[in-house]
Amino acid sequence: MNEIEAQKQYMKKVRKINQNKTFKYTILTMGCQLNENDSEKLCGMLEQMGYERTENQKEADLALFNTCCVRENAEDKLFGKLGELKRLKEEKGVIIAIGGCMMQEKHITDKIKVSYPFVDILFGTHTLHKFPEDLYKALNEKKKIEDVIDIDGEIYEGLPIKRDSHIKASVTIMNGCNNFCSYCIVPYVRGRERSRHPRDIINEIKELAKQGYQEITLLGQNVNSYLRVEREKGIEFDTYEGINSFATLLKAINKIDSIERIRFVSPHPKDFTDDVIEAIATCDKVCKLVHLPLQSGNTKVLKEMNRKYTKEQYLALVEKMKKRIPNLTLSTDIIVGFPGETDDEFEDTLDVVRKVNFEQVYMFIYSRRVGTLGDRMKNQIPEEIKHRRFNKLKTLVEDQIVENNQKYVGTVQKVLVEGESKNNKDLLTGRTDSNKVVIFEGSKDLIGTMQNLKIVSEHMWYLKGEI
Ligand code: 5AD
Ligand code: SF4
Repeated sequence: MNEIEAQKQYMKKVRKINQNKTFKYTILTMGCQLNENDSEKLCGMLEQMGYERTENQKEADLALFNTCCVRENAEDKLFGKLGELKRLKEEKGVIIAIGGCMMQEKHITDKIKVSYPFVDILFGTHTLHKFPEDLYKALNEKKKIEDVIDIDGEIYEGLPIKRDSHIKASVTIMNGCNNFCSYCIVPYVRGRERSRHPRDIINEIKELAKQGYQEITLLGQNVNSYLRVEREKGIEFDTYEGINSFATLLKAINKIDSIERIRFVSPHPKDFTDDVIEAIATCDKVCKLVHLPLQSGNTKVLKEMNRKYTKEQYLALVEKMKKRIPNLTLSTDIIVGFPGETDDEFEDTLDVVRKVNFEQVYMFIYSRRVGTLGDRMKNQIPEEIKHRRFNKLKTLVEDQIVENNQKYVGTVQKVLVEGESKNNKDLLTGRTDSNKVVIFEGSKDLIGTMQNLKIVSEHMWYLKGEI
């Protein structure tokens, strides 16, 4: 019996222990879209086991956390939540399970065991698929479960999934990372790069297309090195629909009927080969917004970060892409205050931001991560300087957003209508190819369709449109 079949048996056993009654669960997901996709799998397993989701923590019989450890603030959030849950544990014996990236860090699991001994289940990134077994053991044997292993990582197919949306779906295409950027904890907690088989990805997307999904986001820590490790190791792939790289994967997905849009996060600039640029340019469904993490605009800092490109190479890549892909827009990630970064070096980051004119910039203050090279560097930057630089970058970025937004006014944009606007149920909300939110008046029947909207005004974080 394979691992997933075994877990399906555990799902049945949990249902039986619960005497087929419906219990309630809450789930809190921190971090990136890969974690959100993992949470959709956890929800899928829980619902097969007879649990029903609630947003009200007080009614929950099971509370689940899917953690992130990329920056320190996620830790504060988890420990705050655990403090709150202590009372619920005492009052009604809620089952508490914590999983994900943070559980791969020994200093964190040690702290939980000492300071929050009431937690029932701890599981890591490599044992997510074993959640039914862990839950069964916690319920049946009434003991604390710690299921964390440190391996390179494997791929498991066939887990149930409960998706958050009926319109947009995330599909993980590869897992792990081999790059070891010196600030980043991901390679330590998610293991080595490994790609899903093209057949499994294509079948999943064809099934999503049948269910009426319009937009697919391909996920991975380094999507454009899809199948690279396998190619380098000479692992034979019974090439499926001619897919042997990220570019060929994009082309194959582009052919799937009724899928309207394809997005992907995150690529690495060093792996942005010409075939990928060509695929974006020629595949009509691939959105022309590319997220291209910069991290720093200074060549020396980039070297210290182990990013494997220079300021000039990044700018040259952007130029090449802009030339080849009409209507290209770019977004990026930037870290300020990496160890040793001087004011002058930080100016290079501002310079790149000015030159590229990003559509969106995700800005982060450098956060020391135990076990990384960056954490061991001597010349850490004082908090106050990091914050000053962050604010300077934020001002520049916001000015650029206002300027860019103005360019939309008067144009017609193709928008995927996603639902009612959160702040006003009488309005609808959708997104442009470049991922801008557009709010507009229209009938609810339009939800899940593509509409051409005329943009009539701009408001920093959204645009207003008319049919
Ligand atoms: N400190 C701050 N930001 C970080 N990121 C990754 N590691 C750290 C860190 N230690 C940011 C990077 C990455 C994004 C997902 O998170 O910009 O692209
Ligand atoms: Fe972290 Fe760098 Fe890998 Fe991205 S490419 S996950 S930043 S180590």
